Amino acid sequence: MSLNQTIVALDQMSLDEIDLFLSHPDNTLPIVKIGLELFVKYGPDLVHKIHKDYKKKIFLDLKLHDIPVTVERAIHSLKNLPIDFLTIHISGGEEMLKAALNEARKSIPDCKILGVSFLTSLEEKDLKTLFGITNIDEAFLRLFGVAESSQIDGVICSPHEITLVKKHFPRLLVITPGIRFSDEINSQNTQDQKRVATPKDALNLGADFLVIGRSLTKAINLSERLKELASYLSQ
Ligand code: C5P
Repeated sequence: MSLNQTIVALDQMSLDEIDLFLSHPDNTLPIVKIGLELFVKYGPDLVHKIHKDYKKKIFLDLKLHDIPVTVERAIHSLKNLPIDFLTIHISGGEEMLKAALNEARKSIPDCKILGVSFLTSLEEKDLKTLFGITNIDEAFLRLFGVAESSQIDGVICSPHEITLVKKHFPRLLVITPGIRFSDEINSQNTQDQKRVATPKDALNLGADFLVIGRSLTKAINLSERLKELASYLSQ
């Protein structure tokens, strides 16, 4: 049973809830995602604690986006932090991505740098108003193309864009949020996620890693959910 392709997002949880979730005897999920909410509040100490106490790999979801030198220095400040994945906005441009990658290889050499494309909270009308985008696939392809040319390790994308990335840029790792179990999709229990897929479908489309939050952290029976997930991952 391998759950190595699953990243569990610790959002909207207190420290006690995080402790309880990570101490669950069946919780062998190897990677946890710490986002802005927790990092702004608890900083590097929480990263060290989760890594040390629970032996988890850390996905630090900071979605960095600034001028190249600022992003470079921010990444330098992450030196010695035990992180395996870090996110950055592709729309910061190739120069920013290259500066980030260059610094990351020195300061956090084991960390994969992953590009965020468009936020899933943006709807088609927002993309049109903000950037004049009418052809969404073409706009995504442009961003993924910049991720490829700057040689970052991978991209974050919804289940809808997995095929596009894998077809045009097979080198890029694909990390996919928007995952819901089939019973949740059937009962439309998908909360604010707009573009969803089951773990099995996302993996079949070619996702390398799945990001799953509330379906696991708020699960009524975590052991059953983990068993279900493992059955897809080992197929
Ligand atoms: O919905 P779930 O709790 O599984 O969210 C997992 C991750 O998906 C979140 O940590 C966030 O990064 C991302 N997300 C997203 N779009 C949303 C909600 C969450 O991309 N509408």
